[in-house]
Amino acid sequence: MIENKLTPKITDDGSYTFFSDEFEELFHSHSGAKQEAQYKFIEPCQIKEKITIKNTIKILDVCYGLGYNTATCLETIWAINPNIKIELFALENDINVPLQAIDANLLNNFSPSVIDVLTSLANNYKIETKIFKGQLLQGDARQTIQTVINQNFQADAIFLDPFSPPKCPQLWTVEFIKLVSQCLGKEGYLATYSCAASVRTALQLTGLKIGATRSIGRRSPGTLANWNSNNLSPLSQQETEHLQTRAAIPYRDPTLKDTAQSIKKRRQKEQDCSSLEPSSHWKKRWFN
Ligand SMILES: C[S@@+](CC[C@H](N)C(=O)[O-])C[C@H]1O[C@@H](n2cnc3c(N)ncnc32)[C@H](O)[C@@H]1O
Repeated sequence: MIENKLTPKITDDGSYTFFSDEFEELFHSHSGAKQEAQYKFIEPCQIKEKITIKNTIKILDVCYGLGYNTATCLETIWAINPNIKIELFALENDINVPLQAIDANLLNNFSPSVIDVLTSLANNYKIETKIFKGQLLQGDARQTIQTVINQNFQADAIFLDPFSPPKCPQLWTVEFIKLVSQCLGKEGYLATYSCAASVRTALQLTGLKIGATRSIGRRSPGTLANWNSNNLSPLSQQETEHLQTRAAIPYRDPTLKDTAQSIKKRRQKEQDCSSLEPSSHWKKRWFN
């Protein structure tokens, strides 16, 4: 029996997503679930370019959800080289999400080989063929990430796709991002849709270099990170100044066990005693 039946919602590019009652947020932007996977994750991580220089592509999909980021990545790779080896770790708390996406045929516009992988991952958690090795780790990503670290997995691409920082601060903290960054290979890229100053600061505090991903239409840019700053588009003056305001104070979760509420409270306290410029002043300078 399926608990908490999720209702599919169509997005502007014709692809479907879900709405989360728990997080009070859509799983993707209104402008398009499929588009978001392509432009915020797959293109920035330069998956196509990696295919030409690597024998095995290693992917870490943090917050697998319906599986769009993994699906788009596999589709992109297999369209160019169906024989290249792929290793995947996917982290997801709620197995109902990928299961219901498959049951409702929401990802049917992907090719059959991609749908087969998504179906196996959702039903069996594990899949291993000659060219594909994938594992879906169910549970709180703050704990399951340890399995990925223990295997010394060094990803070519990490997709960091939790709900927004105010709704799911647990997965945007300095401590969690530090663990995720341990799984990023020397030449790998970490992409996220978020351009929040707190997220960018957390990435920088782990030692990563950051750049902006392109914004589509009127949507804000996302963030791309790596170790060596190669191929990163520099932040604009406006974005750089944002990182000097109180909005840039990151979320913290020293024990990796706190509730969203206490993580938010901790940050609020730090913001209240901060001598940094309030972000309302920055907004006034740039948007009035
Ligand atoms: C914005 S959605 C991800 C969308 C997904 N990447 C896709 O392409 O469909 C966020 C996902 O994070 C999952 N999630 C929320 N809290 C989590 C946690 N602590 N650990 C792991 N996953 C979590 C939710 O169940 C949801 O599927």
